[in-house]
Amino acid sequence: MIRSAIIGVGSALPRRIMTNKDFEKLVDTSDEWIVQRTGIEQRHIAGDDETTVSLGEAAARAALENAGLTPDDIDLIVVATATPNNTFPASAVEIQQRLGMQHGFAFDMQAVCSGFVYAITCADLHIRGGMAKRALVIGAETFSRILDWSDRTTCVLFGDGAGAVVLEATEGKGTVEDRGILASSLRSDGSHKEKLFVDGGPSTTGTVGHLRMQGREVFKHAVGMITDVIEDVFAKTGVTAEDIDWFVPHQANKRIIDASAKKLGIAEEKVIITVNKHGNTSAASVPLALACAVAEGKIKKGDLVLLEAMGGGFTWGAVLLRW
Ligand code: ACO
Repeated sequence: MIRSAIIGVGSALPRRIMTNKDFEKLVDTSDEWIVQRTGIEQRHIAGDDETTVSLGEAAARAALENAGLTPDDIDLIVVATATPNNTFPASAVEIQQRLGMQHGFAFDMQAVCSGFVYAITCADLHIRGGMAKRALVIGAETFSRILDWSDRTTCVLFGDGAGAVVLEATEGKGTVEDRGILASSLRSDGSHKEKLFVDGGPSTTGTVGHLRMQGREVFKHAVGMITDVIEDVFAKTGVTAEDIDWFVPHQANKRIIDASAKKLGIAEEKVIITVNKHGNTSAASVPLALACAVAEGKIKKGDLVLLEAMGGGFTWGAVLLRW
C-alpha cells in the first residue's frame, strides 16, 4: 500500500519582529491583554521585499535541504495561502519558477487557516493516486497585508511566515505502524462566512480588502469543530489520544489549543506551541510549528503526530501521520 511520508521540513520568517509593546503605540491595547487572551507575545511582519512567494520559496528550499533533495526530485507543489502575491498566476507556480523547475505541476489551495491541512491531504491523494512521487507542500502567508491596522480586535492576532514539508511515496503494510499519512478528515460549512472573512476581492469590490472577524463567535465554535475531526481520524485508525506523541495544532490562540487538548485528553507536554512567537500565521502555522518541533529535537522518526486547523469559511480538518 502506498503512503506519503514527510521526509523534510523547513520554515522562513520575515526579519522584522513586532512585539505586543509595539502595538501599544498603534492601538488601544496592552501586552497584558494580548498575552492573557491569546498567548501571543510577538509576531514577524513582512518588509517591502518579503512576500508570500519569497517566504514560501525560502521555506521550500529549507525543506528540500532537510530532505537531502533538489527541485529536480519534486513533481508537485501545493501552496496553501489566502494571501497570494497575485490573483494569478498561483503563488505555487511562481515558487516552481523560482526553484528553476519547468517540470511537474503546481497549484494553490485556498482554505484559509486550514489550508495546510487541506493541502497535505490533497498532495497525499495525488501521491497515492500515482500522479506524483514527491511533493512540496507549503503554507505561506502575509496576513499583515490584509489587516486593518486600526482594528485592535484583529491586528494584534496575526503574523507572517511560511513552512514547508517534502512528501514522498513510501510502501506501507496498511497498518498504523506505517510511516506517512494514516488518515485525514476535512470539513467546511459556509453558513459561518460572516464570522471570519475578507471584505474585498476581485469579483466583488475589485480591492484586496481587510480581514473581519467576530472573535468570540469563532472561539465558540473552534474547540467543538477541532475535536470532531480529530475524533474522526481516531475512529478511522483505532488510534487514541494516549497513543499520540505530538499534537501540532493550528496556532491561533493558546486558550483554544489548551481547551482542545484538554477535551481530547492529550497531555500538555505533547502539545507544540509557537503562537507566542509567531502569532496566527494562518496556513503557515502548522508547518512552521512542525519545523520548530523538529529543529528542537522533539518530533523524531516513528513518532505519531496529530495536526489540526480551523479557519475562515468555516473550514476545518485533522491529519494523523507517523513521522
Ligand atoms: N486590546 C484590548 N482590548 C481589546 C482588544 C485588544 N487588542 N481587542 C478587543 N478588546 C476588547 C473588546 O473591545 C472588548 O471590550 P468591551 O467588553 O468593552 O466591548 C473586550 O476586549 C473583550 O472582547 P472579546 O472579543 O469578548 O474578547 P475575547 O475574550 O473573546 O478575546 C479574541 C478576543 C482573542 C479575539 C478571542 O475571541 C479569540 O481568540 N477568538 C478566536 C479568534 C481566532 O482564533 N481566530 C482565528 C481562527 S481562524 C484563523 O486562524 C483565521
